[in-house]
Amino acid sequence: MKIAFAASEVFPYAKAGGLGDVVGALPNELSKLGHEVKVFLPKYNTITDAEYKLRHLPELGEIPVQIAGKSYIVRVYSSSQPGSNVVFYFVDCPHYFCRYEIYTNDKDEDERFILFSKSVIEILQRLQWAPDIIHCNDWPTGLIPLLLRENYGWDSLFRNTAAVFTIHNIAYQGRFAKDVFIKSEFDSKHALPGGIAEYHGDINFLKTAILTSDIINTVSETYARELLTPEYGEGMNHYLSLRQNDFYGILNGVDYNIWNPKKDKNIPFNYSMNDVSSKIKNKKVLLTRLDLPFDENIPLIGIVSRLVEQKGFDLINSGIDQLMKLNAQWVILGNGQEIYEKMFRKMVKKYPKKVSVYLGFYDELSHLIMAGADIFLMPSRFEPCGLGQIYALKYGTVPVVRRTGGLADTVQDWNESLVSGKGTGFSFYDYSLTALVHSVRLAVNNFNNKSTWNKIQLNGMSKDFSWRKSAEKYVALYEKAAIKRRGQT
Ligand code: ADP
Ligand code: GLC
Repeated sequence: MKIAFAASEVFPYAKAGGLGDVVGALPNELSKLGHEVKVFLPKYNTITDAEYKLRHLPELGEIPVQIAGKSYIVRVYSSSQPGSNVVFYFVDCPHYFCRYEIYTNDKDEDERFILFSKSVIEILQRLQWAPDIIHCNDWPTGLIPLLLRENYGWDSLFRNTAAVFTIHNIAYQGRFAKDVFIKSEFDSKHALPGGIAEYHGDINFLKTAILTSDIINTVSETYARELLTPEYGEGMNHYLSLRQNDFYGILNGVDYNIWNPKKDKNIPFNYSMNDVSSKIKNKKVLLTRLDLPFDENIPLIGIVSRLVEQKGFDLINSGIDQLMKLNAQWVILGNGQEIYEKMFRKMVKKYPKKVSVYLGFYDELSHLIMAGADIFLMPSRFEPCGLGQIYALKYGTVPVVRRTGGLADTVQDWNESLVSGKGTGFSFYDYSLTALVHSVRLAVNNFNNKSTWNKIQLNGMSKDFSWRKSAEKYVALYEKAAIKRRGQT
C-alpha cells in the first residue's frame, strides 16, 4: 500500500509529546512490512537543514497556497533516515512555522495548520503520488479529509485515497472562530449550525475529522470505549457514537531502538533484564546530577511529563505534604502550564532534600530518569495511551498509574495479580488523593522487599510493546478504509 502520514510532530524532527514518538516510529514499521510510506510535517525553525540533512526539492517549485484568498509560497524539503525507506517531506513556509513553539497561542494558529493541510495535498499532486491511505493525526490535520474530498475533489488522483484519522488526544480539538471556512475555502454550508465543521458557533477541526474520515481510531482500546462516554468524550462522544462502526482502538507501540536500556545512548550504564545490576549506577549518576543524596534503600520516584491538567497533577497538588511523608525521593521533568510549574517550584523549595525539578523539555534527561528512577508515576485523569509507562516497564522502573485509557491496558497491578505473580506495577482507579497515596505507598513499601521488587521489575521488562503487532493492526485498518472508499467511488 501507499501510505501518506500528516502530523504536526515527528520525532526526531519535532516533538512535544507522544504524538512525535508515534509518527516517528509507526511509518518505519509499516515500511518494514513492505509498504511505501511518505511522512509530511511542517518545517519549524528548529528543524535545521544541516542537523537533519534536509534537501530542498526545487523540482517541486514554489507552491502558492491560499489562505483566505491570499497566496503564501511553500517550498518543499525532504529527508530520509539511514536504513529506512520512509521519505519525510517538510512544508516550508517561514511566515507560519518560524515560531517559538510547535503549537502557539498566536491568533493565526488555525491558519498555520490550514496551510499545512493544503500543502500536503498540493505536494502529493506535484509528486503525482496517489496514496491509498492518507493517515491524519490529531486536530492540526483534521481538515485534510474534508479538503481532499471537496476542495480537491476535482482531482481524480485522489479518487481512491481513503482518509484514516487517529485521535491521540480528545482534549485538543482545534476550535476556532467561524472564519476558518473563509481561510480554508471549504463550502460555507459546513459552518452553518448543524454543519459538519460547526460546533457551538465555532469551527471544530476534530469534529470535522470525525465526520469526514473513512475510518477513525484512537490509541488504546480502553480509551476508545471511554471516548464514547460523556465523561471522557469532551463533547465529541456524540459524533463518535454516530461513527461507532468505523471507530477503533489500537494500542501504540514503542520504538525499542530508542527506548531500550540495553542500547540507549543517552544513559551512562546500559543494562537488560538478564542483568539489572547496572540500573543503580544510573541512579547514582542521576542523583549526583540532581544534587540529591544517594541511599540504596530509598526509592526514587520519577515523573516525565507535559505539565497539563490531563496528567493528574492537581491530585499531587492536593497532597504534597502527605506524599512527602513517604520515605522516597522525587525527580520531576516537565514543562507546560504555569500553574503546575509553580506548584513544582514550590514543592522543591519546601522539600529541597527530597525533590528535584527540571522545568523544560530535555530529551536526554528523560532517558536518564527512565533508567535511574525506581518508580515512574503517571496519575493521569485521562490517558489516551501513554508512552512513559511503557518505556518505564522496559527500564525496570515500576509504574504507578491511574487505571484509565492506555495505562489500564499496559500496566498490570501487582496486588491484584498476587496469585499469578504477573503484576508489572501499581494502579488505582478512583481519581482521588487517597487512592493515589495508597498506591504510591504500596510501591514504596514493596521497594524494600528486594525479591518482590525484582520480580515486578522483570515482569515489566519482559513485556513486549514493540510496534510490529500494532502496525499490523493499522494495516488491517487501512484495508478496511480502502475497501470502504472504493465502495463509495
Ligand atoms: P503525551 O503524549 O500526552 O505527552 P506520552 O506518555 O504518550 O504522553 O508521551 C510523552 C512523551 O514525551 C514521552 O516520550 C516523554 O518522555 C516525553 N516528554 C514529556 N515531557 C518531556 C520533557 N519535559 N522533556 C523530555 N521529554 C518529555
Ligand atoms: C497523546 C496522549 C498520549 C498518547 C500520545 C501518542 O498526546 O496524551 O496518551 O500516548 O498522544 O498517541
